[in-house]
Amino acid sequence: MPSLQGIARAENKVLSFYITTPIYYLNGAPHLGHAYTTVITDALARFWQLWGHPTYFLTGTDEHGQKIVEAAQKASEAPEHYVDHASELFRTMTADVGADANDFIRTTEARHIKGAQAFWEKLTQGGWIYKGSYKGWYAVRDEAFYKESEIVDGKAPTGAPVSWVEEPCYFFKLSAFQDKLLDFYAKNPDFIVPHGRFNEAKRWVEQGLQDLAISRSTFKWGVPVPGDADHIMYVWIDALSNYITALGYPDHTNLMQTFWPHARHVIGKDILRFHGIYWPAFLMAAGLEPPKQLLVHGWWTVEGEKMSKSLNNVLAPKDLIGTYGLDPLRYFLLRHVPFGGDGNFSDEAMCTRLNSDLSNSLGNLLQRTLAFIHKRTGCVPHANAPTLSAALVSWMGALESEAEQHMTAAETHRYLTYLWQGVALGNQFIDDLAPWILAKSKAPEDQERLANGLRQVLDTLYTLARYLQPIIPESARKILAQLGYEGPPLALRAPSFQLKGGRPLPKPAPLFEKREQSV
Ligand code: MSP
Repeated sequence: MPSLQGIARAENKVLSFYITTPIYYLNGAPHLGHAYTTVITDALARFWQLWGHPTYFLTGTDEHGQKIVEAAQKASEAPEHYVDHASELFRTMTADVGADANDFIRTTEARHIKGAQAFWEKLTQGGWIYKGSYKGWYAVRDEAFYKESEIVDGKAPTGAPVSWVEEPCYFFKLSAFQDKLLDFYAKNPDFIVPHGRFNEAKRWVEQGLQDLAISRSTFKWGVPVPGDADHIMYVWIDALSNYITALGYPDHTNLMQTFWPHARHVIGKDILRFHGIYWPAFLMAAGLEPPKQLLVHGWWTVEGEKMSKSLNNVLAPKDLIGTYGLDPLRYFLLRHVPFGGDGNFSDEAMCTRLNSDLSNSLGNLLQRTLAFIHKRTGCVPHANAPTLSAALVSWMGALESEAEQHMTAAETHRYLTYLWQGVALGNQFIDDLAPWILAKSKAPEDQERLANGLRQVLDTLYTLARYLQPIIPESARKILAQLGYEGPPLALRAPSFQLKGGRPLPKPAPLFEKREQSV
């Protein structure tokens, strides 16, 4: 993948980043899967912000459609009331998982309805919408139409139950976009990552596209179709447009101009078809650029099982945070599965990561270094050449390019693997340096070696803490505080704060408590 810095230099400007989560359906409470999507998006947004790019992070809730009508009925509430408190649960989840979003959009907000209708009108003006009638299968769980040929054993290919629908509706001329989409894909080889998912989308398009039903007329809970009170918009055209209505579409706002050309949508693999095919086609039809990139993640199971209400294994983010702590959970989610792959959440795996990676490795490096310094001088050592460990020097030298490369592909697991190489090198270096022996020597060269060695470890910890800010913001802040920095998050490259010899360090405190596995 080309370096983003390279692209920015070539275009002679600072790249912006517009990073979004999907907007969440309100048919249930937030769970681990939603928390995962939000945490990755937050980590990427924080990373690019601290890498020096103007960054805008959007999340929100998808509040229309049949699925929500059914959920409201189940709760014996009117949809208007139901969505108000259901949406609050997601707003709270966003804060609970430490996500620092710039905006939270709800599709029932006036700003969204106005923008979605303007988008529809634009498609109508372009001649991309016509009226007809739909006869076929619909799965409320997926909010998707299915062809007869896609039905397997009376169900959608996703396993969702389907029902037969016959209703007048508007269609979008999706069939006209096959070549345009294939051409767009060819010109944008990194449009969808991981590339395996891109191939999946290409195959669907190559197999041919049918026009898409984009309105419903058998219920009322949706954005009214402009000029036809009998129809509401199909929930996916309504939902997808959130990514632009939140920036002020149809107005040419600063947000729209600064961020829309740099949109990156983080999505789960289940909603690839909507984002990889329908969304770019709608946008091209409306005369707007398709998003820059889709970052497609896998799905989580719990102790080997699919999460489901019937199995009573739906994990609530709040409970997980209560049990393991926020940063251990964030670290686990971002480290445990390769981006794009499916993951299995288990208490055993979570405890192993917490105890081994956070407490034994990182925590130990921090604690043994700072406790040693605290017992002796309590200050950052005066060092003249803190480069005793050639391995740490070369680790540090490659860090920027490794970090940029991995985060460009949303590969937080690789980013963290690289950071933990630094942790391991740091621990190894202290073992080799044996500061407790050097400290007993009066020889000036031993004292110099001690100062240089400790300083190199402190520099490593300081760098690690900065690079951990996007992943485990609160713990990174605490590490920085133990290194004598308190203030706003620090730039990853060329930070405004430097460790200086002689600066007093506060009393160190352990960061990560080990946890026994539950039986
Ligand atoms: N409302 C649509 C998205 C519209 S975006 C214009 C939707 N909502 S959802 O609530 O069902 O899913 C939101 C996100 O949560 C998706 O990215 C989905 O992949 C993710 N997850 C839901 N369950 C999940 C797991 N078990 N594991 C990982 N992520 C999963 O789709």
